Amino acid sequence: MQYHNDSIITSRSNFLSKSQINYLRISITDKCNLRCLYCTPQKDIPKLSHQDILTYEEIYKIVTLACSIGIRKVRITGGEPLVRKGLLELITRLNDISCLKDLSLTTNGILLPKYLENLAASGIKRINISLDSLKPEKFHQITGYDKLDNVIEGIKMATDLGLHPIKINMVVIKGINDDEVQDFARLTFDYPYQIRFIEYMPVGVSPGRIRLSHLSNDIVKKRLNGIAKLNKLPEADYAGPADCYKFEGARGEIGFISSRSHAFCSKCNRLRLTANGYLRPCLFSDAQLDLKNPLRNGASDEELLSIFKQAILDKPVKTQPFSSNSKKQNNWYMSSIGG
Ligand code: 5AD
Ligand code: SF4
Repeated sequence: MQYHNDSIITSRSNFLSKSQINYLRISITDKCNLRCLYCTPQKDIPKLSHQDILTYEEIYKIVTLACSIGIRKVRITGGEPLVRKGLLELITRLNDISCLKDLSLTTNGILLPKYLENLAASGIKRINISLDSLKPEKFHQITGYDKLDNVIEGIKMATDLGLHPIKINMVVIKGINDDEVQDFARLTFDYPYQIRFIEYMPVGVSPGRIRLSHLSNDIVKKRLNGIAKLNKLPEADYAGPADCYKFEGARGEIGFISSRSHAFCSKCNRLRLTANGYLRPCLFSDAQLDLKNPLRNGASDEELLSIFKQAILDKPVKTQPFSSNSKKQNNWYMSSIGG
């Protein structure tokens, strides 16, 4: 059955201009080889069992269906996607879906030196690498591991292999790594990377976990003032949540993802599929629709597509994500939903 995305989102059309829902982020595992301060809870939460996780066959089926209603971009996330066995086969298969125009991966970079060549050969053209510090001790403090060198090596390999764009995600946490925003920004003079400053979001915060504070991207931007003239780049269609800038004379770009200080719901073009097979219309809401059980219980393509359709209709017009005085704590972890 062929739904057209335009008709599905008509009820959003009065407030949506550019954001057709064309982007699906797929978390393929909740497991990770790091324990970032802001992501994994202090105490271990139970991991999903093998049975709970969508198989690659199921993911493939879901992506083909999603394509039939207008999804054109897929990003593989985690947890850390490179820790799940057989990922290269999944990527090779997804890469063969002709209406999929863009297949990308978000990784913490630790396993890139091991897998990057095969990843590139299997069809990944674009990667986002999470990196919150360029200092070994700080990297250890944030992630729990001494593995900065692996990430740096992975970034170098990606550069040498000509992957483009390489986006580097820095989650800025006040008092922890905000002294490094200028160092990150300066990388754009030497390398064609897009350095993205992401406002920390208090998701899955558990009692006993260190309280972290975000820094507004307005302040981050001010701190870049002294470096060089920062010019705003025109907004590309379906650009997603980043506001992009470039220093005069730089090779790379700077992106600001300001989920806390500036709601960007009207630009949001994405759905998320969790590792255990739920569709999530919005990162800032607990709402989710079960796709896995209907799929396993033999639902027809029409029935599965109607779940997609509902998820698109459920995307909010506007949310108030994590206002600083909000008492609400979302009841989930970034490692199981994908950032
Ligand atoms: N706040 C902001 N960004 C986060 N990410 C993970 N957890 C959080 C959080 N609590 C980011 C990761 C990665 C992306 C997928 O999501 O750093 O770059
Ligand atoms: Fe792992 Fe990414 Fe979470 Fe860090 S933020 S613990 S790298 S899933």
